[in-house]
Amino acid sequence: MSFKDHFFGKKATNYEAKRANKPKWRKEAVAVSQLFPPGIKTVLDIPVGTGRFFKLYKERGLIITGVDSSNDMLLQAKMKKVKATLLLGDIRNLDNIVGKFDVSVCIRLSNWLEPHDVAKALKELARVSHTIIFGIRTNCGSEPERNSGHLWVHSHPIFVKALRESSLSIYDERVIDTGGYKVYRLCS
Ligand SMILES: C[S@@+](CC[C@H](N)C(=O)[O-])C[C@H]1O[C@@H](n2cnc3c(N)ncnc32)[C@H](O)[C@@H]1O
Repeated sequence: MSFKDHFFGKKATNYEAKRANKPKWRKEAVAVSQLFPPGIKTVLDIPVGTGRFFKLYKERGLIITGVDSSNDMLLQAKMKKVKATLLLGDIRNLDNIVGKFDVSVCIRLSNWLEPHDVAKALKELARVSHTIIFGIRTNCGSEPERNSGHLWVHSHPIFVKALRESSLSIYDERVIDTGGYKVYRLCS
């Protein structure tokens, strides 16, 4: 199963309603909010999805840019009628992103990324932002594994290596669940 089966058509329309009442959804929002560095003005949310964090950004008066590879998810974000620049794009190649953002937010994507693409994504995020808020589920083994048949649980040692290669360090983190899912604040 690929992400294409999930984030287009009805799956995009129903995405938020199906998840918004789940404890994990709320924990992620609290984590993102707590991990924001002080004094920021601009945010790049990738993948922005339905724009679930727009309220958090608006409360802080942030200038919002959102990127996603699904036009249908971007349409859901547009329907929130929040002032934001919304672009079609792929986290593995952010050549179309101009300038550097104070913070980028990447939640609920890494489990869809092939292990070798995690490092690519981190390098791109480090290139276009000063601070990264990044969600990832890792195990402590040396190999990534498949969870529920299609989602990736990444290897923590490989994640740490990818951080080093992107000149990034972990500055803070929040535990989302006991299965190794955390949201990190990363800085270069
Ligand atoms: C589970 S949703 C998460 C959206 C949002 N961050 C959230 O927490 O609700 C995953 C999103 O990643 C997008 N996506 C998948 N692969 C991508 C890629 N390579 N680059 C950018 N977006 C991607 C999908 O279209 C989908 O909107």
